[in-house]
Amino acid sequence: MKLKKKNSLSLDKFINFSLYDKKFGYYMKKNPFGQESDFITAPNISRLFSEMIAIWIISFWQSLGSPKKFNLVELGAGNGEMMKIIIESFQNFPFFLESCNFMIHEKSPTLINIQKKLIKNKIKWIPNINKINKDPSIFIANEFFDAIAIKQFNKKKSLWFEKFVNLENSKRPFFFEKRADIKKIEKKIKFKISQNQNFIEYSKLGLNYLKDISNIIKKNTGGLLLIDYGYTDKKMKNTLQAVSNHKFANILSNIGNVDITHNINFNIFEKFVKQMNGLKTNLTSQKDFLTKLGIKERAEIISKNKNFTKKSDIYYRLERLINKKQMGHLFKVMLIKNENNKFKLGF
Ligand SMILES: C[S@@+](CC[C@H](N)C(=O)[O-])C[C@H]1O[C@@H](n2cnc3c(N)ncnc32)[C@H](O)[C@@H]1O
Repeated sequence: MKLKKKNSLSLDKFINFSLYDKKFGYYMKKNPFGQESDFITAPNISRLFSEMIAIWIISFWQSLGSPKKFNLVELGAGNGEMMKIIIESFQNFPFFLESCNFMIHEKSPTLINIQKKLIKNKIKWIPNINKINKDPSIFIANEFFDAIAIKQFNKKKSLWFEKFVNLENSKRPFFFEKRADIKKIEKKIKFKISQNQNFIEYSKLGLNYLKDISNIIKKNTGGLLLIDYGYTDKKMKNTLQAVSNHKFANILSNIGNVDITHNINFNIFEKFVKQMNGLKTNLTSQKDFLTKLGIKERAEIISKNKNFTKKSDIYYRLERLINKKQMGHLFKVMLIKNENNKFKLGF
């Protein structure tokens, strides 16, 4: 594979190339979701997950005053499974359904095609979230932010160094560091990312999305429901990882064929949103969120009159979603909304 004619790339540019290059990018050429593929996400483990999100959306819409027109925007919809089940669950709520303007913001044309085949309802695929209309807007993002490229910086004595990948020999790429002007970066992103840190891992694009969505919520009203794996420590950690065939892999080998991801630092996300004024965040674990929404009761209802194998399967999948040792604690749910909205179902 030809890695363009660059000798080196900053870590985020390298990740962008590996995941989203039009020809070689991991997300651009295949469907990585499912038991048979590289990884499996919550909507592909059990439909109960998406059903709980659907219930949450309807309740949140009510907290906005049940607007007659509103936008539901999914960020990074993968194989489309979550949106499909959400729409199915909405069928029993005709007034709500009529008010809902469905949108998907997805980067990969291959995945857009897969989504179009799976979802038969009226959906608008939007390349730019800033161009949506002025109606109240509810954004949902499951494992979207972890798929966005990150930068990394190390502090040595009082100097900051940024991580780069040397690509002179495309068969043997390696990491190296370059001096960085962190003050200049902080001025650009309008956020003191280096405050009390000796190591920085952050996504420029991820913070941009947070800023844009927060501004839309402030103007239009609405919220962002963000579900992802991550941690809440004040200090940032190196969480960069590659995944192939459900196992950890080497980031620098097999470029374009392994998924590259990281854990979200929710503490930084909270601080970033807080300094934008007028917004409030709530945070909880996936286990608590789904349990409060009634996922166990729903599992009981759908497993009634099922044979033993089917019942076991439903509960095995439920455990994967909520068990503390599986996704229950590592995955967190964050809500960003206007500070005057007191809604807190699930939190
Ligand atoms: C880890 S997958 C999660 C998919 C899905 N939400 C799920 O839970 O199965 C990340 C998704 O985000 C999309 N994505 C990543 N960066 C994006 C961007 N900048 N704009 C739009 N979509 C993006 C990917 O193509 C992919 O569909």
